[in-house]
Amino acid sequence: MRLPAPIASRTLPVSAARGNTNHIAACVLQVCFLIFAAAASGRCADDSQTPKGLESERDLPSRYGYVAEDVRRLSQPVKGFWIDLGAGKGDVAIALIREAGNPVVMVDPDKDAMTKGLEAARQQGMQDRLLAVVGSAESLPFPDGVADLVVSRGSIFFWQDPVQGLREVQRVLRPGGKAFIGGGAGSGYPKEAVAKLIQQRKEQLSGAEAEKWKKFVELRHPDQMKEWATSAGLTDFEVLGRGAIDDDPKVGQGVWLLYTKPSATTN
Ligand SMILES: C[S@@+](CC[C@H](N)C(=O)[O-])C[C@H]1O[C@@H](n2cnc3c(N)ncnc32)[C@H](O)[C@@H]1O
Repeated sequence: MRLPAPIASRTLPVSAARGNTNHIAACVLQVCFLIFAAAASGRCADDSQTPKGLESERDLPSRYGYVAEDVRRLSQPVKGFWIDLGAGKGDVAIALIREAGNPVVMVDPDKDAMTKGLEAARQQGMQDRLLAVVGSAESLPFPDGVADLVVSRGSIFFWQDPVQGLREVQRVLRPGGKAFIGGGAGSGYPKEAVAKLIQQRKEQLSGAEAEKWKKFVELRHPDQMKEWATSAGLTDFEVLGRGAIDDDPKVGQGVWLLYTKPSATTN
């Protein structure tokens, strides 16, 4: 299948997609690139609020495959309509497609990053399973109760309003749908790399950009994630991990919100 050029204002027939992989595949064939108004500006690792020093972590092994493994193991999502929220270049989405074979829709305010993701997917022969929608967490461009999985790595910490973003995640999930939202390297990430990552971050806490790094660590703390989830009115959730400068046997370094939308939830 060939990806058309980005198309403005086409509508994804997600209502046809509830819990049915064939219907999702049909959606994939029908729509390849949707444009919606972005309510928030995109910010990522090179943002001015993000401390310098993260660049050196790029020399460490890739985390995406390990994160995708954890998403499957811990969320056990049913196949269907899967979203990578704050997808950036789609590395998690691509790893998930490779891991589970299910199509993934990226959502991000940064269309240039997602365009790179679409190109990477094409180079890897996955162009029929990766889609892109320009949008933001605070106003997801999808109807209520349609998604089987929302995964989001390294993004919630940049959202303008994480609580509103989580409300939106809850809204678009179908009953029984799963969310796996946070940041980290994945439980299978090589231990030497985890140790190096944590050691480097700890050193930064007393370095030239100590204040930015403290904020970085605070935002990625389990208590912060619990506060966001509780304020968003989520009930059936678990916060996993010990944060940005600690390791956890179940999810490795980082922090993750694992959420299942209860069957009785009304949007
Ligand atoms: C550090 S990057 C992470 C990208 C990717 N998920 C990864 O793990 O490599 C953060 C991403 O969040 C996106 N972002 C920022 N604000 C957002 C918002 N309000 N809603 C959704 N995504 C947002 C940015 O554009 C950026 O692509």
